[in-house]
Amino acid sequence: MAKPGYKSARRNKDKPARPVRTGTGKPGGARSGKPPHGPKSAAKTPEQMEVTSSPTTAVDKQPPPPLKPRSGHRLPEQTARTIIVQGDDHYALLDSGLGEKLERYGKMIIRRPEGQALWLPSLPASKWSQADAVFTGDIEEEGQGRWQYPKGNLDETWQQNFDGMAYLGRFTSFRHTGVFPEQAAHWQAMDRAIRTARAGGRTVRVLNLFGYTGLASLVAARAGAEVTHVDASKRAVGWARENQEIAGLAKAPIRWICDDAVKFCAREVRRGNTYDIVLLDPPAYGRGPKGEVWQLFEHLPHMLDLVRDIQSNNPVMTVLTSYAIRASHFALHELMQHVFAGMDGRLESGELVLQQQSGERVLSTSMYCRFLGEGVEV
Ligand SMILES: C[S@@+](CC[C@H](N)C(=O)[O-])C[C@H]1O[C@@H](n2cnc3c(N)ncnc32)[C@H](O)[C@@H]1O
Repeated sequence: MAKPGYKSARRNKDKPARPVRTGTGKPGGARSGKPPHGPKSAAKTPEQMEVTSSPTTAVDKQPPPPLKPRSGHRLPEQTARTIIVQGDDHYALLDSGLGEKLERYGKMIIRRPEGQALWLPSLPASKWSQADAVFTGDIEEEGQGRWQYPKGNLDETWQQNFDGMAYLGRFTSFRHTGVFPEQAAHWQAMDRAIRTARAGGRTVRVLNLFGYTGLASLVAARAGAEVTHVDASKRAVGWARENQEIAGLAKAPIRWICDDAVKFCAREVRRGNTYDIVLLDPPAYGRGPKGEVWQLFEHLPHMLDLVRDIQSNNPVMTVLTSYAIRASHFALHELMQHVFAGMDGRLESGELVLQQQSGERVLSTSMYCRFLGEGVEV
């Protein structure tokens, strides 16, 4: 149940009645659905976990403070950049189409709903039917669905690997696998940045907000950083701790904190604590451990204000990711590629943004893909 004072949160169509990829009405989980199964080992030591959330107060029922005014130059920029994450032995997107995707995690073939796969699959049905695990039941974001194992029952977890680091893949109730493989691009960039800074004699402090199963925290710790990992879900933190064991990083300096990310950051600002790297991958909708509401479009500005205020004097990187908008110009593009295949001409895809008349700011409105016939210039 949403709390009084959160009508705006309930108005948002992204708000799930149940945990979904984009958030949850309950603490924690896969972006950020409540993880359905208890962790096996690390989660059995909750006393080792720092649970710092203060009781919900009237403050939680107030809208977040407005974005602070800031002065200073506009940063140099590069927009519309596409980072393409290639498959490897550990993960590959094998095919997609008709609202599903076919992936390989190690040797495990998994078939899951993918709303943006509007085109027809490239591989024959015989390949799709070789999946070891199929998530069925409901392709809606809010659908619970279920896993089926056509070749015989499988354990809830299986061993995965990222760049030599072991962790557990996991079948969760809401069609997630305990990892968002495309995040590997950010992990690799962070790993390089940490190693470079460490080689220069620096200590590197990393804050991983909305940290889920902890893979980014483990990559950072392995590269030599001191890591603070924050997630609202005890169970998700338990999964992360289980991954820490499996990765052989039990002694790595990671603080595991079960708390509301906004409250935690506000406390860090008051304490004067700072970080060189901040990662945040907030869901569209979530709950802190005390029922604190997280609504991306309502709370992100204030969250980023806090993140700015905990930047160290010599910051390395802050990575913000959002899956809140479950569409991409690639979805349109691939559909157009499919439909216009063989025609003379070209496709052009991207985002439509409005240039604000005052200053240099632009406002994103929509994504587009257009076919331009042979020789047509616009
Ligand atoms: C999108 S997942 C993060 C995925 C992760 N960064 C990765 O790439 O694997 C969202 C996580 O946010 C957590 N969460 C949701 N609401 C939260 C809140 N108010 N404060 C802290 N964590 C929250 C959930 O428990 C969940 O683990």
